Amino acid sequence: MQLRDMNSIDTVACVGAGVIGGGWAAYFLAKGLRVRVWDPSPDAADKLTRLIDNAWPALTELGLAPGADATAWTVHTDLAEALDGVGFVQESAPEVLEMKQRLLADIAAAAPADAVIASSTSGYGMTEMAVETPDVGAARLVVGHPFNPPYLIPLVEVVGGERTDVAAVEWAARWYDEIGKSVIRMDREVPGFIANRLQEALWREALHMVESGEATVEQIDRSITDGPGLRWPLQGPMLTFHLAGGEGGMAHMLDHFGPSLKSPWTRLDAPELTRELRDDVVAGCDEEAAGRSITDLVRARDASIIAVRKAVAAVRETYPTPGEQDGAR
Ligand SMILES: NC(=O)c1ccc[n+]([C@@H]2O[C@H](COP(=O)([O-])OP(=O)(O)OC[C@H]3O[C@@H](n4cnc5c(N)ncnc54)[C@H](O)[C@@H]3O)[C@@H](O)[C@H]2O)c1
Repeated sequence: MQLRDMNSIDTVACVGAGVIGGGWAAYFLAKGLRVRVWDPSPDAADKLTRLIDNAWPALTELGLAPGADATAWTVHTDLAEALDGVGFVQESAPEVLEMKQRLLADIAAAAPADAVIASSTSGYGMTEMAVETPDVGAARLVVGHPFNPPYLIPLVEVVGGERTDVAAVEWAARWYDEIGKSVIRMDREVPGFIANRLQEALWREALHMVESGEATVEQIDRSITDGPGLRWPLQGPMLTFHLAGGEGGMAHMLDHFGPSLKSPWTRLDAPELTRELRDDVVAGCDEEAAGRSITDLVRARDASIIAVRKAVAAVRETYPTPGEQDGAR
């Protein structure tokens, strides 16, 4: 299969420009690319302007590519016009399977034949999303799962579906790497990929605790930000536990605490998301926000992600991981 020479790409498309698609647009712009946007919402351009304005100071602090221009984007009312000649497409429409199935088929029909098309889906596999796309288009469809905000969180999980050509998966992994992302390339479809599967386990337990009155929303958040979350930017949960095993490392950890995994405090069935639980969680978040707007919270979040990334990058220089490239971290 013939795929675009990535060095020749100067324009990409974002299909769907909400929280994630808009965040991708801001990131691509910061990398010096031009962005074409297709989004059916009448206020898509206004929302995107606000999102890029909010993101640009953070992106500037992390370093813009030469020629990066926060205004180098256009919103189109016609999908084919938005995709005309682009070198890459990032789809970030709502997480509704039937919508993605139709949309990906439309994108594959309209995009240049050598452009890889990635979906930001949080959990659907490409095999099920590609069912309406003929083989020739399905070969170029991959999942490129980002994290919010995509303009600051480096990780992208890349995986194809049953009909995706392995060359397209490789191309996407290399493309994200080239534009500064930290890429996990998965060789099989796993519901929720890796990071969402882990996040969902935490989220499920958090909802159990709110539902049963065991913890408030604020206590749950503080338990991570002032607890294990402080260790995770440098060492993930596995290496963290390796150290928690003392000189015996992970082996001691598993022998010592493994049996407790079956104890009642891990209840991995999902709680019923009742109206009451929903309202309790929403009220807890409002209380924790203490009058700060979403924009205030986004600014604080972005500043702290940048601070953590810079601090961790400095620590990594002093204590490099053998064999690890600098990469996007
Ligand atoms: N929000 C997150 O934290 C997060 C993280 C990773 C991945 N994702 C995934 O990214 C995707 C987008 O999520 P979001 O949070 O940005 O949602 P969102 O609601 O903020 O944005 C969705 C955008 O898609 C537009 N849209 C509606 N119908 C469309 C269509 N037919 N074609 C194209 N665009 C359409 C909407 O107008 C809106 O601007 C989803 O697949 C979601 O699972 C979200």
